[in-house]
Amino acid sequence: MDTSFSFILPTRIEYGAGIHKQLPKFLEELGSRKILIITDPGVSRLDWFTHTVDLLNAQKVKVEVYNGVEPNPKDRNVEEAAKVAQRIQADCLLAIGGGSPIDCAKVVSILAVYGGKARDYEDRSRIGPQPLPIIAVPTTAGTGSEVTFGAVITDTEAKFKFTVKSPLIAPKVALLDPDLTLSMPPALTASTGMDALTHAIEAYTSRVAEPISDACALHAAELISAYLPRAVRNGSDREARAALLTGSLLAGIAFSHSDVGAVHCIAEALGGMYDLPHGVCNAVCLPYIMEYCLEANQARYARLAEALTRSFPPSSVPIGDIPKAAQESVRLVRQLARDVGLPSFRSFHVPEADFPRIAEKSSANGSNKDNVPVLTKEDYLHLLRSMQTG
Ligand SMILES: [Fe+2]
Repeated sequence: MDTSFSFILPTRIEYGAGIHKQLPKFLEELGSRKILIITDPGVSRLDWFTHTVDLLNAQKVKVEVYNGVEPNPKDRNVEEAAKVAQRIQADCLLAIGGGSPIDCAKVVSILAVYGGKARDYEDRSRIGPQPLPIIAVPTTAGTGSEVTFGAVITDTEAKFKFTVKSPLIAPKVALLDPDLTLSMPPALTASTGMDALTHAIEAYTSRVAEPISDACALHAAELISAYLPRAVRNGSDREARAALLTGSLLAGIAFSHSDVGAVHCIAEALGGMYDLPHGVCNAVCLPYIMEYCLEANQARYARLAEALTRSFPPSSVPIGDIPKAAQESVRLVRQLARDVGLPSFRSFHVPEADFPRIAEKSSANGSNKDNVPVLTKEDYLHLLRSMQTG
């Protein structure tokens, strides 16, 4: 860990059951009168979404909806939405949904003001000083995108996921309403929850971890491991939903100040090439990569094992035996992924002939340098082969 660190959180966080109904108040505080809502087709069909649009119209706020965001948000979604924002001269973006609409809105906030193509802004020095403000309303407990500075977008031509990253595109306000996550089906609850757990674990074991991200990551790991099985079993469990939304928020703060690692490097390569769901990719790869990296970072994995069992005393973690406790963290994560019903890597049907290309993309990912240890293309190839036979 570095001996110096900095911490910036430009997002105002407002959390509470029913808080999304206060949206007009937050828009008024930002002085917004013309807003573009960025969402996906599923969310735009929900009753509360229609009520929200009605509520805003009643306040004489001009509202336009772009509901074309696809999973693993595409460059074309960003560019289409930016055109709508320019046409209506939007003064604010309201991103409602999982990580895809929120990530999409982050890049729209730049394009709507400064023009160009989504991928132009992979070079953060090109991001102008005043993108459009964003209010983010997450409807899943997973990506933490409502408080992160990054957006992961798919370049549809290159079949490659790239990241646009700057504190300038972090939402101005995050409205976290656990009631909005109640309708998530079990499989989506499981995969998004495992995405959040991956953020916490990768942030905590990263080369660039720092004390504030550590605190957030450990508490996130504790909450997610304790409550994810409950929310998957019973989607109406409000206590579990609230804990998971808090966990994903904390994990988002953690990894945006630390980094993700090798799990996300593979997950992003797989998502870009085959359009596979991000959370499922992470969940499938997580225990394999933890095991592979364990020896280089035993004390941190041992501490994680404690967090993962904190809510289920007596703990199975052997206190004082760091190598064994570290090993226990892998078993706990594997068990959790099994308990919430996540599939195997084999079920993706990824052709083995593609492994070298996936390994190449994973090792070239910007987050690979922060993984402990830094993995080579050969390491990734080895991991892919063991996941295929595991
Ligand atoms: Fe993620």
